[in-house]
Order: sequence, then structure tokens, then C-alpha cells
Amino acid sequence: MKIWLAPLHGITNYLFRNSLYRHFGGIDYCVTPFLPVQEKAKLNVKNWKDIWPKNNTEVPTIPQLMGNKPAHFVDTMRAVHDEYGYEAFNWNIGCPVAQVVRRRRGCGIMPDPDTVEDVVRTVTSQTPYRFSVKMRLGLNAPAEGLEILERLDDYPLDFIVIHPRLGVQMYEGKPDLEQLDLFFKHTHHRIIYSGDLFSVQDFERLQKRYPEIEDWMLGRGLLQNPFLAEQLKGLDSGDQRQRFPKYYQKWTREMLEAVKEKSTLAKLKELWHYYAAFYHIPAAELQQLLRINDFDIFYDRTLEIIKDS
Ligand SMILES: Cc1cc2nc3c(=O)[nH]c(=O)nc-3n(C[C@H](O)[C@H](O)[C@H](O)COP(=O)(O)O)c2cc1C
Repeated sequence: MKIWLAPLHGITNYLFRNSLYRHFGGIDYCVTPFLPVQEKAKLNVKNWKDIWPKNNTEVPTIPQLMGNKPAHFVDTMRAVHDEYGYEAFNWNIGCPVAQVVRRRRGCGIMPDPDTVEDVVRTVTSQTPYRFSVKMRLGLNAPAEGLEILERLDDYPLDFIVIHPRLGVQMYEGKPDLEQLDLFFKHTHHRIIYSGDLFSVQDFERLQKRYPEIEDWMLGRGLLQNPFLAEQLKGLDSGDQRQRFPKYYQKWTREMLEAVKEKSTLAKLKELWHYYAAFYHIPAAELQQLLRINDFDIFYDRTLEIIKDS
């Protein structure tokens, strides 16, 4: 089985990814957070630090793209390939954020199967690159996703990542496995599962239900518990109480070298929403922690939490 690091916009940038790979095992592949496709004249892929090859030496990485114009995909993929050598790309048609959906991007494109098929047809016929899609069940209803799967079944896609929720649900409720069962019947493509894998038990339950799935994508579960990929693969995680603070301290130092203290604090706070689950921090205590606006005080307090755990 293969484990993929999910794209998490604003979190899994190259600094985060590299730190994670250096300290924890089990991750085989990664999809980057989305980058916007553009027409050739407007492109400046030289600025796309997140996919610079020198920033992505640890784990095979696929750039993720977002947009809705077939020609923009072709232009962007060619430019990225020529500049950096990437030969595989992923298309995000699952992002449920309102500003994205309003612009018919991300999950906002799922009610429009003609455009989805247009992009896939154009890319697969006009470029030699491997292309894949990351989708939800639909924006408003699973009928949208089913229609897309049927339309895409004969195109030479690399794989399809499915997060079995609707866009309108955002992250509420549970992944809808009954719909996912139905989705499997409508596609021959290789499916990568993404959604709510938080523990070994979650994984075993899903693996039993879907023995044909070989690729599993971890997002928030890996943020909460960076040992999760190792645990799913049955690898020995050694002394977690020593490894985690080492990782946390090193990553914080790397962030401070790359961005200002204020941004590092914001990133740490975002992550502590997830670590709170790992360290069983009650909601009120987490709120208190997140109210701290001084970097040093916040950092010292979090180190204490880690040490006392
Ligand atoms: C903060 C955040 C940012 C995300 N950014 C992206 C993104 O850039 N591209 C994408 O395809 N999915 C994105 N996702 C969705 C995740 O990749 C994943 O499919 C989803 O979180 C379900 O998996 P999980 O329960 O393992 O986190 C994001 C999710 C979160 C919570």
C-alpha cells in the first residue's frame, strides 16, 4: 500500500512537507496545495517556490492545479514542465471554500460536467503529461460526481482522489461510504481514498470495506498525529515522546528562518488546532492557548504541554 500526504492549502507547504518527511516515515507521495492555472502571457512559474525541485527532493511530489479553462491548463503544465521537469499534475475539483466555488473553481466546477470533461479531454489529448483529478462526491449532490466519473471513465487518467463528502458539507458529518460504494461501480480508474483517516482503527475499517484500494491519502489525521503513516504501515515509531518535540522545535526554527515571527505564530496556532486532539487538550484550554499573541510565551507554553504529556 502507498500513503499520500494530502494537499492542505496554507499548511502543507514545502517547509512543512520537508520537515515532516525528515522526522517521520511512511509517506510515499505527496500532492501540493493548489496553484492557479493561467494563460501563457500571465504565467510566472519561476515564483512558484513550493514546487521548485530543490525544495522537493525527499518524496515524489505532484503539483496540484486549480482553474476551469482547458487552454490555461495546457499553458501552465507546459510552463511548469519546461521550467522544472514535472510530468504529472493533479486537478483540484474538490475545494469547497465559498470564494473558490463562486468563481467556478474547485468544487464549484462539479455541477458542470461539460467543463470538467473539456479540461480532461484537452489536457490528455494535447499534452504528454500524466493527469489526475481530486474530487468530492459533488458540490450539491452525489449525482454530480457520478456523472463526472462516467464521463471520465475512458480518458487516460492517472488516478482519481475521492473525498466522499459534498462541497456544501465542507467538513461536517461523516464521509458517505454508501455513496462511495456506488462511485466505485461507476469507474475503472485507480482510486485514492481521502477523508477522516485519524487512526489505525479508521484505516483498518476502511481497508476491510475497500480491499481493492491501494492508495490512502492522509490529511488532518497526519497533522494531529504525525506518526500516523508509520503506524498504518506497522513501522516501529520508537520513542514518540522524544521524537515529537525534536520535530516541533526544528520545524519552528526553520519557519522562523523563512518567515517573520508573527507568521510563524499564526502557523503554529493553526497546527495546535490539530495537536489539541493528539494531546487531549480540552476546548477551553485550547481557546486560552490560542489567545496568546506573544510568540515566546506561546512557544514556551506549547513546549510545556508537549513535555508534560
Ligand atoms: C485546511 C485545509 C486545506 C486544504 N487544502 C486543499 C488543497 O489545497 N487541495 C485539495 O485538493 N484539498 C485540500 N484540502 C482537502 C484535503 O486534501 C483532504 O481531501 C480533506 O481534508 C479530507 O481528508 P482528511 O480528513 O484526511 O483531512 C484541504 C483541507 C483542509 C482541512
